[in-house]
Amino acid sequence: MTTLIKSSNEIKKVLAVSERPLGFIPTMGALHAGHISLIKAAREECKTVVVSNFVNPLQFGPDEDFKKYPRDPEKDYKICQEQKVDYVFAPSEDEIYPDDQSKKNIISLPLELSETLCGKSRIGHFEGVAIVIKKLFDIIKPDYAYFGEKDLQQLYIIRWLVKEYNLPIFVRACPIVRETSGLAFSSRNKHLSNEGKAVASNLYKALKAARANIKIGIFTVSKSMLESLIYLSRFPEIKVEYFEARNKVNFAKTDDNAKSGFYFFIAAKTNGVRLIDNIEV
Ligand code: PAF
Repeated sequence: MTTLIKSSNEIKKVLAVSERPLGFIPTMGALHAGHISLIKAAREECKTVVVSNFVNPLQFGPDEDFKKYPRDPEKDYKICQEQKVDYVFAPSEDEIYPDDQSKKNIISLPLELSETLCGKSRIGHFEGVAIVIKKLFDIIKPDYAYFGEKDLQQLYIIRWLVKEYNLPIFVRACPIVRETSGLAFSSRNKHLSNEGKAVASNLYKALKAARANIKIGIFTVSKSMLESLIYLSRFPEIKVEYFEARNKVNFAKTDDNAKSGFYFFIAAKTNGVRLIDNIEV
C-alpha cells in the first residue's frame, strides 16, 4: 500500500517506527523511467521506500520555468503505487518554507561545484537544491538516498552536502536512463514534440562522438568538443549553452591531453526546452 502524506510532522511520526533501511528518492514529480529506475534500486535494498514530490521554487530563477514545470501528482502517485513505494511525501510550499525568512537561508557551496556548468547561467539554482535536500533529509532521515547521474553536477553537490553536514546517509548514484534514440529521460522532455525529441537525441550523439574521438586517440579534449559542436551546429533548433569536460575526482577543468577520468557535459536548448546530459570518458 502506498500512503500519501502531506505533513512533515506526520511523515516523521510514521517513519520513526518504519522498518529500516529506509530509502529515499527526492523528486519534483512528472515521474519517468529515470525516476522508476531509482525507485527500483531503493526497493531492492531497502525495507521502506519514500518518494517526495515537491517542485521546489527556490531552485528556479525568476526567468525560469517554475510555473510551467510539468505537474501531474495523480499520475505520479499511480506510478509510485505500481512500484510499491511505501510513502509519497507531497508537502505544500508552506510546509517546507513556513515563512519568507526560511526562503532566504543560504548554504554556501564550493564555487567549483556551484558556479560552473549549469551554475553559471542558473544563479542560485544549486543553493536552492542544497537547501531543499537538506530540509528533506532532516524530515525523512533516510539511510540511502537515490539520485540519477543525468544531473551529475547536482549529485556532486549532494555528496558534498552529506559530507559537510556529517549526515549518516549513503548517496546512491544511478545510471542515466535513455529512450531508444539515446535521449536521456527528463521531466522537461514532456515539453518536446516527437520531432523535437528526435532533434534533441543529437545531444547524446555529440557526447558519444566526443568520447569516441578521445578513445581513437588522435584528438585532444578541446578538439573533440569542437568537432561535436560543429556537428550540432547543423541543427538550428539546438542552441548549445555549454560543452565542457570536468574531472571525475574534483570537478576541475580537464587537462587537454586527458584520455580518461573525466566527463563531457552538455546543456542546450532544443526548441526552447533546456536539456542537460553527460558521458563518462
Ligand atoms: O533532481 C530533481 O528533481 C531536483 O533537483 C531535486 C533533487 C528533487 C531537488 O528539488
